[in-house]
Amino acid sequence: QNSNSQTLLKMYADAAKLYSHILLKTENGSNALKYLRNRQLDDDLIQTFGIGYAPNNNKLLLQFFKDRDISEDILRKSGLFAQNQEGELFDRFRDRVMIPITDESGNIIAFSGRILDKEASTAKYLNSPETEIFNKGKTLFNLNNAKKEIREKGNVILFEGFMDVISAYKAGVTNGVASMGTSLTDQQLYVLSRLTNQINICYDGDDPGVEATYRALTQLTDERFTYGVISIPDKKDPDEFIKSEGFEKFQNLANSVQTPISFILNYFKRNYNLNNEHDQLEFLNQSLKEVVKLQSPVEVDMYVGKIADEMNVSKDAINKELDALRRQIS
Ligand code: UTP
Ligand code: MN
Ligand code: MN
Ligand code: MN
Ligand code: MN
Repeated sequence: QNSNSQTLLKMYADAAKLYSHILLKTENGSNALKYLRNRQLDDDLIQTFGIGYAPNNNKLLLQFFKDRDISEDILRKSGLFAQNQEGELFDRFRDRVMIPITDESGNIIAFSGRILDKEASTAKYLNSPETEIFNKGKTLFNLNNAKKEIREKGNVILFEGFMDVISAYKAGVTNGVASMGTSLTDQQLYVLSRLTNQINICYDGDDPGVEATYRALTQLTDERFTYGVISIPDKKDPDEFIKSEGFEKFQNLANSVQTPISFILNYFKRNYNLNNEHDQLEFLNQSLKEVVKLQSPVEVDMYVGKIADEMNVSKDAINKELDALRRQIS
């Protein structure tokens, strides 16, 4: 690593220490601390994830680093500051709960800052821009903490949000990571492939989360992995589920991994009224197009059975449809 990178890593480490101190030890941090306690993050968890608070002061970090003789050039390269129309720097993160983003070795390379109040007109989460030390597409939140568990459990859980990862960790589900608000990149898949060959998707249970799960399953074709889905009921996200249902129920849920095809059949089913014959036939057509892609005869038989039950027709009839479809494709 070049000397710029070393300086930037030191700056992020120092900034995180400062934000943590402000959160835990100063009056300025009391609102943010209340917010976090309300979200049921205790001090241990706050420390484990190095969470802090950036107060509403646009020169705090700037002055801190100027006092430490950091050059203007490095200040600009750090991503910790934005500039006004006159080109003057000011603190990028203000009045936000600061979640450090680490690399695989645990070095802090970026932040995600969350606003405290819902009505604010700015983005709920503000992430650091890419820098010499932060490549978004390579980074997975919590990978440094989760690595060992991922290897031991033989799978990784992919969450949508940082708070989901943190709450799952609190609930004892410690093999979770999150991408930086985007779908998995090839680089992230490569990183994961060295640790495991099973990716379990545990996105939010709300409509956008369900859509994103379906999209992920259709896009994740990397054959180094098998995929699974952990579905959160009642349109909750994992963090909300843990808060309302408790650790044990979440642990059980995290162990009930659905196969992609099972998720996909349920996903299709939502759009149809299976009491209506027209809908039944469309559901059947759509579903068989997925079943026909399965490699294993046992799996095919299982899902033929499910579809037959769902539609209240014989497996035999479904199998005949499937044969017809196979002839069509080949
Ligand atoms: P969600 O809207 O589901 O947020 O976005 P969340 O994780 O449940 O957050 P809380 O519980 O309200 O605090 C999922 C993820 O999308 C990214 C973040 O990574 C977030 O965790 N996101 C969302 C952003 O980057 N910016 C945003 O403004 C919103
Ligand atoms: Mn969401
Ligand atoms: Mn969410
Ligand atoms: Mn949430
Ligand atoms: Mn129709």
